Amino acid sequence: MLKKNSSVKLIKYYNFINHNLIYNNKAINRYKRDNFEISEDKAKSLKLLKKSIVNQKNCDLKKQAKNIVFSDGNPKSKIMFIGEAPGANEDQEGLPFVGRAGVLLDKMLASINLDRKKVYISNIVNYRPPENRRPTEIEIKRYLPFISKHIEIINPKILVLLGSTAMNALIGDEVVISKMRGKWIEKKFGSCNTSVIITFHPAFLMRQPAQKKMAWIDLKMIRDKKKNLRI
Ligand code: URA
Repeated sequence: MLKKNSSVKLIKYYNFINHNLIYNNKAINRYKRDNFEISEDKAKSLKLLKKSIVNQKNCDLKKQAKNIVFSDGNPKSKIMFIGEAPGANEDQEGLPFVGRAGVLLDKMLASINLDRKKVYISNIVNYRPPENRRPTEIEIKRYLPFISKHIEIINPKILVLLGSTAMNALIGDEVVISKMRGKWIEKKFGSCNTSVIITFHPAFLMRQPAQKKMAWIDLKMIRDKKKNLRI
């Protein structure tokens, strides 16, 4: 039997916690959008880019998805992360990395003193592939001009590619992630010159936790680069 005092405390605690948050199956919208002040030009370019993605004709991914997943984070940031494709939670919320992989991504960011207000996040494709499958070569080809333009507009000094889909799409098909991760590559996207690093995708790290030690090496490289570039 609980003493009266503990029962009161328990009731107070239950009243305090948000039951919806705990029992609801839906993704938690942990991040509220801030009003980041960006130049009119940049805002206009991002708006135009989003519009051209939304206005695509005959895109099966778009037809089957609920929402466009364009980006999250700070468009002023000099650090951009690119994943593969939205999943069910992202499709529901219209924001990248809000599901389980996003929880790990947030922890990875926090480990080097970053968060979603300090970085900018997008994906190779902007609509959820059905059944969370990998985007096909044709779908990647279709979205490549959009993500390349997206990088050019954001103009990051550091570009982090999460996983092999992002790596193969933006660096080339002939490379493998086990050889490419943890190295800096200088790359040009339109007028944007940026230092690219490839690391493991958080969803892969959840399946292969032993690889987290390698991801930690990559994260420390990002932390050091950020310091060297005085970002
Ligand atoms: N995985 C991705 O690559 N991107 C997301 O937005 C979510 C999961």
